[in-house]
Amino acid sequence: MNFPAGVPRHIAIVMDGNGRWAKRRFLPRLAGHKQGVTALRHCTQACAERGVAVLTVFAFSSENWNRPNDEVSGLMDLLALALSREVPQLCKDGVRVHFVGNRQALSDKVRTGLEQAEAATAHNTRLVLNVCFNYGGRWDIAQAAAALAARGEAITEASLSAAMALAHVPDPDLLIRTGGEMRLSNFLLWQAAYSELVFSDRLWPEFDAAALDEAIAAYHARERRFGKTSEQIAPAQPDAAHA
Ligand code: IPE
Ligand code: IPE
Ligand code: MG
Repeated sequence: MNFPAGVPRHIAIVMDGNGRWAKRRFLPRLAGHKQGVTALRHCTQACAERGVAVLTVFAFSSENWNRPNDEVSGLMDLLALALSREVPQLCKDGVRVHFVGNRQALSDKVRTGLEQAEAATAHNTRLVLNVCFNYGGRWDIAQAAAALAARGEAITEASLSAAMALAHVPDPDLLIRTGGEMRLSNFLLWQAAYSELVFSDRLWPEFDAAALDEAIAAYHARERRFGKTSEQIAPAQPDAAHA
C-alpha cells in the first residue's frame, strides 16, 4: 500500500454521540443516526483525500442489541438503506467496503445487502472502509481462537492475528472516539494494542474534516515508542561537533 509519509495509514473511529446530537435538537435518536451516516460519508472522503489507506468504524456493537427494540430495528433499516444508497458514491471515491462482525445474527435482508455492497466495491483500491457491525473485540478474539481450535492449529499471537476479522489490514495507527467518553466499549481490543488514542468532545454528526485534521495533528504530536526508549526512536541528529 502506498501512503504519504506522516499520514496515519489506518484510522479507527468509535462514532459516538448520535443520540445526544438528536436529543439536543429535540429529534428522535434515529435522526442522529441518519446524520451519522452523512458524517461517515464526509469522513470517508476526507480520509481518501488525505491518503489514509484504511478507515475502520464502529457502527453497531455486540452490546447495542440491548437498546430499545425500535432503535435496534431503526439501525438495521438504516444500514440496509445506506448500503443500497451509498454504493455509487463509494465507487466514485474509490472506496472498498468490508463488513466486520458476526453476520449470523443479522437478518437475510441486511446480510444480503452487505454482501452486495462488498461485491460491488471489491475492485476499488483507494481506501479500505471496514464497517464494524454487530462487532465486539471479545467476539473477534473468541471466534479467532475457536477457528484455530477447530482446525487443530496452535494458538500464537501470529496465528490469532491471522484468524481475526481484521486480518486483511494492518493494526490502526490512530484510534479516535467522538462524543467525549474515554473508553473502548469493546472495540478493537486486540488490534489497538499500540494505537494512539484521541478523544474528541464533538458528537459524531458534528465530526467534520477540520476535526479529523485536529485528531491527525494530535497523532503527529505523539511519540510512538512501542516499548523502546525515546532515544532509540529519535531520528539520528547531525553531529553538532562536526557542523
Ligand atoms: C453511536 O451513537 C452510534 C451507535 C452506538 C449505534 P449513540 O447512539 O451511542 O449516541 P449517544 O452516545 O447516545 O449520544
Ligand atoms: C460504542 O458506543 C459503539 C458504537 C459507537 C457503535 P456506545 O454508545 O454503545 O458505547 P457505551 O455504551 O457508551 O460504552
Ligand atoms: Mg453512545
